[in-house]
Amino acid sequence: MNKLEFLKNIEIFKKLRKDSLNNPNRLNYHLMAMGGWLNDPNGLCQFNGINHIYFQHSPFSLGWDNKIWGHYSSKDWINYEEHQPFIFSDILEDKDGAYSGSAIKKDGKIHYFYTGNHKFNDKKYNYDYEGRIQSVIKVTSNDGNTFESKKIILKEYPNFVSVHIRDPKVFLENGIYYMVLGAKNNEGKGIALIYKSKDLEEWDYHFKIESKSYFGYMWECPDLVKIQDKWFLFISPQGILNQEFNFQNKYQVGYFNLDLDLENKTYQLKEFIEIDKGFDFYASQSFVDEKDRNILIAWMGMADFAYQDEVQGFNHCLTIPRELSVNKYGHLIQKPLVEFLNLREKEILDFKDLKNYNKSVEVILSDLDNELDLVINDELIIKYEMGIFYFEFKNKKTNRDIRKFKLDKLDSLHFYFDSSSVEIFINDGIYTISSRCYFKENYLFFLINNLEYNYKIFKLKNFNIIEFNYEQENNN
Ligand code: FRU
Repeated sequence: MNKLEFLKNIEIFKKLRKDSLNNPNRLNYHLMAMGGWLNDPNGLCQFNGINHIYFQHSPFSLGWDNKIWGHYSSKDWINYEEHQPFIFSDILEDKDGAYSGSAIKKDGKIHYFYTGNHKFNDKKYNYDYEGRIQSVIKVTSNDGNTFESKKIILKEYPNFVSVHIRDPKVFLENGIYYMVLGAKNNEGKGIALIYKSKDLEEWDYHFKIESKSYFGYMWECPDLVKIQDKWFLFISPQGILNQEFNFQNKYQVGYFNLDLDLENKTYQLKEFIEIDKGFDFYASQSFVDEKDRNILIAWMGMADFAYQDEVQGFNHCLTIPRELSVNKYGHLIQKPLVEFLNLREKEILDFKDLKNYNKSVEVILSDLDNELDLVINDELIIKYEMGIFYFEFKNKKTNRDIRKFKLDKLDSLHFYFDSSSVEIFINDGIYTISSRCYFKENYLFFLINNLEYNYKIFKLKNFNIIEFNYEQENNN
């Protein structure tokens, strides 16, 4: 979809925006598309104090469709500005979608690398090993809002890769730029490819990272991150078999701890840790902000599942941003950004009073001492029993009713409820649970077996979002 097509059909988008205002599942402090569909966070960066959050967006559709990049910006993570879409799919190489990608700053500019999806539109292809080209495309911007032209950076790849190769994440290490790409190889195995460059313009294939045994057929949205001198390879692998306590979603997200020598192309992958244990968390992306914090955001959704939002104006949202750090066991810790303290409007002193407020609420339960049995809105059961954590919906209408996993001990739970979603930070962020949840009531009520828990509850404010003025844009 090019910009002209977008503007010509803007009434469809406007109608969705209007519908979404009346959608009871609309989020109050999570980024969603103002109208239409959203999936992966893209191009995350902070530039001259402003955080840019782009996302996979289909502005005319509530389902999977042609993708362009939607755009928000914020200085403080509470007040946002909506911008018109940043990247349209308007050249042959991205005609079937301006797919996911990342951003990096260099010489006072932001450089973006994304996947152009080009399908040959002919039934004779299987689109796995033929019939598609996924190119790496670069655009450069002085302000995060506009760019002049698109440059094709990579179109051909080593001959062991299938036609599934995408989601470039670019980073700088020891004065050299590296790009990690997710792929499926010719044996049907998920792998990551590393390219390198001195100047962000010319890129050479460097080496590949793969697991010794099969670990899914495709690694989407890879992200190589160094935190406190330790390397982590995030991937969103597809094709992992569900297990009783792990990998219970259709697609997963997690990270390998790894020993890595980028220059000498050596690595050793260690254990894979699934970072989020809920139903809705995928395609995460991290970036380093101007305070040197590693911040992670994911799509709070999952492909190939019908959500209740999608009947009215919008579909899906992003998670709240989380700051990453490493504990002494080398395990990543996620914490809500400290800016989210500014979202607190008022302390609610008693669980009973929750009925007087809407579902934008933060709840902190601490000193749990390995004990928990909780029912929320007579629908969501959260309990900890014999070393197993359960997150379970009573209403078993879909195949998304229960998640359970092993946890050595339970100290605390930090909940962020927002309208139709919940994010839980367990034991100060060793795991999270991110899920959409559609309670019938427009307030929360907790049934707790032990009122001795230490708790704090806060009513939260809404994000303040200045909407883009499409009337004006159309007149230009
Ligand atoms: C992950 C993903 C990416 C792709 C994008 C398309 O959700 O499938 O691999 O670039 O979404 O929207």
